Amino acid sequence: MSDLPHQSRKVIMDCDIGWMNDDCTATMFALLSPDLDLLGITPVMGNFDLDHEVACALRLLELLGRTEVPVCAGFDRPLIHERSSYADQVWGKWGTLQPVESIPPGLPTLQRDPRHAVDFIIECVQKYPNEVTILATGPLTNVAVAIRKYPQLVEQVGEIIIMGGNIPGLPRGHGNITPMAEFNIWVDPEAARIVLRSGAPITLLPLNVCRLTHFDRAYFDRLASAESKHPEVARLFRDYLLIHFENPEVDRKNARLFYGLYDHCVVGCAINPDLYTVTEMHVDVNIVQGAFYGATHGYQRGTYSSGAYQFPLDDGCRPIKVAHEMDFEGLVDIYLRALTE
Ligand code: RIB
Ligand code: CA
Repeated sequence: MSDLPHQSRKVIMDCDIGWMNDDCTATMFALLSPDLDLLGITPVMGNFDLDHEVACALRLLELLGRTEVPVCAGFDRPLIHERSSYADQVWGKWGTLQPVESIPPGLPTLQRDPRHAVDFIIECVQKYPNEVTILATGPLTNVAVAIRKYPQLVEQVGEIIIMGGNIPGLPRGHGNITPMAEFNIWVDPEAARIVLRSGAPITLLPLNVCRLTHFDRAYFDRLASAESKHPEVARLFRDYLLIHFENPEVDRKNARLFYGLYDHCVVGCAINPDLYTVTEMHVDVNIVQGAFYGATHGYQRGTYSSGAYQFPLDDGCRPIKVAHEMDFEGLVDIYLRALTE
């Protein structure tokens, strides 16, 4: 056994956090894991309106007694994608600019950090070159603008681990917000394209792998019986999950039979990348408005025997790591350990 002190991995949680949604409980996972050092939370609109998300992040920190972690708000709308009647009907309340009247555990008294998410991300990367991992579990607007504002970020960031997209050529590769697109990428396809083409070291966890995390009642019972370090938050989490198991109408409304640990996959990957089977692929995003808007496609470079041409050409997207299989039990184990030990 080494006598060296345990080195935690420095991470930023860039997320569309709500109250006890998957971003929220994934953030809790990052806060409680001894393997991660959470430098800050940078909310970006997506599942919810930005101010609601900021309130949820601040309240979570209060309840966990982690008020030293800064919450730096990012963008309240995508770069180009405008709200539409379709966007209003489905998951996501982005860009609605609603006043925050309440959240289940009450509004926070803790204040947000005045820095913009983009400046906070850049500052962290400059302060700890090659050490910072961005955990991106919402639309990629903050990350894209950070790259545009400080292009050296792509060489100086340790890694960007992203929950987003769907690879149609691999199993479980259909979209979830449209038949072709995944929610995080669809909300801001132009931002996603900037990030995926940037050349930064990226690991992408698309729907193909996240769909392996739909869990059943047995898992819920395991979680509910776990002794938490933070019983009040654990109770809120369990009450929230219980709705999914005991109210079939809620499940039907959300079009999901089981709750999934989608955003937790990103945190789990930062703690133990060996949980995932990864392949190097070129992944790009469709930014043409219409039925394919926000669709991702991924492929491995083909080679012609002449050597003259390769697809895609080198001025296109760059290769990134794509996770496509995972050890779900392994993820559950480290998750439960973070909550209880
Ligand atoms: O498509 C899944 C993603 O969108 C997750 O990040 C989840 O939070 C959802 O809203
Ligand atoms: Ca999310």
